[in-house]
Amino acid sequence: MENFSAFTPDPLVTELRNPDHPGPAPAVLTFPQARALSLSIRATALVFEDPASRLLFERLERIAPSDASVLIVGETGTGKELIAREIHALSRRRRGSFIAVNCAALPETLIESELFGHEKGAFTGALHSRAGWFESANGGTLFLDEIGDLPLNLQVKLLRVLQEREIVRVGSRQPTPIDVRLVAATHVNLDKAVGAGTFREDLFYRLNVAALDLLPLRKRPGDILPLVRHFMAVYSERLARGAVALSDEAARQLVQYPWPGNIRELENVIHHAILISTDGWLRASDLHLSTPDFYRKTGQDTETGCITALDELRTVLIRLFEHGTENLMETTEEILIRAAYDYCEQNQVHTARLLGTSRNILRARLMRYGFIKNRSQTDTGSEPYDCPDHH
Ligand SMILES: Nc1ncnc2c1ncn2[C@@H]1O[C@H](COP(=O)(O)OP(=O)(O)OP(=O)(O)O)[C@@H](O)[C@H]1O
Ligand SMILES: [Mg+2]
Repeated sequence: MENFSAFTPDPLVTELRNPDHPGPAPAVLTFPQARALSLSIRATALVFEDPASRLLFERLERIAPSDASVLIVGETGTGKELIAREIHALSRRRRGSFIAVNCAALPETLIESELFGHEKGAFTGALHSRAGWFESANGGTLFLDEIGDLPLNLQVKLLRVLQEREIVRVGSRQPTPIDVRLVAATHVNLDKAVGAGTFREDLFYRLNVAALDLLPLRKRPGDILPLVRHFMAVYSERLARGAVALSDEAARQLVQYPWPGNIRELENVIHHAILISTDGWLRASDLHLSTPDFYRKTGQDTETGCITALDELRTVLIRLFEHGTENLMETTEEILIRAAYDYCEQNQVHTARLLGTSRNILRARLMRYGFIKNRSQTDTGSEPYDCPDHH
């Protein structure tokens, strides 16, 4: 199977991981040779062309040499991990390890011993004592990805580690001093998580000493074509395709596309396009842009010169995307179903026809959103929206 990631785990990763961490590896990527890698990234792979990205990079260069904790915030695929590696590479810790841990991928029961290590016999199955990721990153940088998913009890422990600069292995009382710089990342707004009580405010302030906000790609359009050219060069070399040129129409579509999956999606699109292009040209027809065609339209109906209703809807949707509205899929579906059901005066057959769906599917949605009740739950009482429309 094709690998669409620029960072395939290296054999060295396993070498580093095994001595200290026998047994099944959690979903963790480590990067022992971070320095060498980052140097090669810097020479060939970092694209910061848009003025907004240049400002971000300048800020990164100022933050990196200090030992301050950094919080990187950005949508999926915006380059959070790449930025974390760059911070490490530009710090005085560059010769130490860079260790990346995805908090969302670790089961809650394992996370404490993975982070802080454990002593022999600390819990059933702890046959040997083992260093955790903090100890492994000693002298280097620990990257905690998806920090918003760290359970609350672990957040308390992490805060303590940051304050005391020492860890206590599970099953031990002996603190071990550690010298680790923490870089954390999140794709969710931690402010909101603090408001909702799922993220500790004190830890948030501690992590947020230096914050780096990565803009979504659609808000730094000056990066798009340089990234396209960068990934065209990478993949045409990797796939031994020789020189590949970009058609004007392909370039136009790439710039107009909103890139919901950001740089990761762009990389995948270019990789795929290079795979299927045959004649040294990357054309619009080689691009598999995942969201429907309507995103690429400009909002003007070329036939009539009028803004159409669908264009208005697109504009509203993009505004919602930019505001980071939560549960967007459910919320928009609920609004759609509700509006159609009301429009059809609660007639299910008409509503299903209007929406172009089956009555069964419609009924399931009406139940899900509480517009009608499940029959099995409603032996008695009336159903406010379930009018008799069984024709
Ligand atoms: N400025 C950049 N220049 C070149 N390539 C980049 C840049 N930023 C990100 N990339 C590439 O984009 C891909 C995604 O980056 P990365 O994995 O760092 O994103 P992420 O924000 O951690 O994504 P996710 O939220 O999915 O974990 C990687 O292949 C990375 O090399
Ligand atoms: Mg990541």
